[in-house]
Amino acid sequence: MTSVLVDNVGTLVTNAPEVGDGVLGVVEDAAVVVENGVVAWVGPRGSAPQGAEERFDAGGRALVPGFVDSHAHLVFAGERAREFEARMSGLPYTAGGIRTTVAATRAASDDELRGTLRRLVTEASRSGTTTIECKSGYGLTVEDEARALRLASEHTSEVTYLGAHVIPPEYADRPDAYVDLVRGPMLEACAPHARWIDVFCERGAFDGDQTRAILTAGIARGLVPRVHAGQLGPGPGVAIAVELGAASADHVTHLSDADVDALASGTTVATLLPGAEFSTRSPYPDARRLLDAGVTVALAADCNPGSSYTTNIPFCIAVAVRDMRMTPAEAVWSATMGGAKALRRTDVGHLAPGARADMVLLDAPSYIHLAYRPGVPLIAKVWHAGKPTS
Ligand code: NIG
Ligand code: FE
Repeated sequence: MTSVLVDNVGTLVTNAPEVGDGVLGVVEDAAVVVENGVVAWVGPRGSAPQGAEERFDAGGRALVPGFVDSHAHLVFAGERAREFEARMSGLPYTAGGIRTTVAATRAASDDELRGTLRRLVTEASRSGTTTIECKSGYGLTVEDEARALRLASEHTSEVTYLGAHVIPPEYADRPDAYVDLVRGPMLEACAPHARWIDVFCERGAFDGDQTRAILTAGIARGLVPRVHAGQLGPGPGVAIAVELGAASADHVTHLSDADVDALASGTTVATLLPGAEFSTRSPYPDARRLLDAGVTVALAADCNPGSSYTTNIPFCIAVAVRDMRMTPAEAVWSATMGGAKALRRTDVGHLAPGARADMVLLDAPSYIHLAYRPGVPLIAKVWHAGKPTS
């Protein structure tokens, strides 16, 4: 057995209200005992059990659960900086830009894709992410989608089949044939490598009937749905997500009152991705409307080369607090426990006894500094299942 006492924690966020104060379950002047990669004890440091093999002194700084980034597109080649530059001069974002990345991704070797994927996963880990989801969606052939999922599986078990990202150019005049491919042979090839199935339900991508047909086929094949819904405009994505019991509806920037009611009464988490609004200079989703209605909200980075080329969850927390009127506590909860709920994980996103010891030490006395000190590298140390990542 290996055991570590993380001692002298100024502010500990457990996300376990039964352990500490408020929704974040905050314990001041705290300690954590980790045994074999799992949290064994948390509480006031004066009552910490003695006898751990190692002691780490947190120096009065804050310790929070590792971030759970429940939405990322990391298997791609190339980049689209010029597209971003044009948008900053006034051009609108459209779903069509995805095809640029599809062409580059199809032309790339496995090792090129692996290189980018490894770089981005490392980048995310350095900014405190300890669980990351990863979608396909830039291959859009049977072989290229299956390849993307195989490569993603080398880094995470949260792998999502997104063959329904856009209609690829070779199917431009026969979209129904592409939908049949996505819910037929492509699904057969991809399902063994994925846990989730996602559809970009949006004007310029897939409509409601196509979304329902693809997700239903995925469910029959054992995958669990999640949906890109209401990113660029209103649409049926949220209603379909709730109807099919999707784990999450993502973006949800454009919502009807009925959508909000459906999310509040169902089990689907609303995943907000402020990096996309930042990088497309679009209005942010109305987090307060969702939170006040009782919807479970997750925050994720949506790393992709088109609409949100960031892996940095602290940045998303800062934007959510500054521009989406989430409190610092709500934003931190959404980026940890909210992400865990969006991925239906009970072992991550919190630091109660029994949780995987995914922990982030901040170079700050409080989690509030994640929003209060935007752009500052506050991530002092990251543990993944009890092991320091560097
Ligand atoms: O989540 N919305 C669809 N997919 C990505 C954008 C992908 C791209 O532009 O390459 C997103 O924003
Ligand atoms: Fe996305």
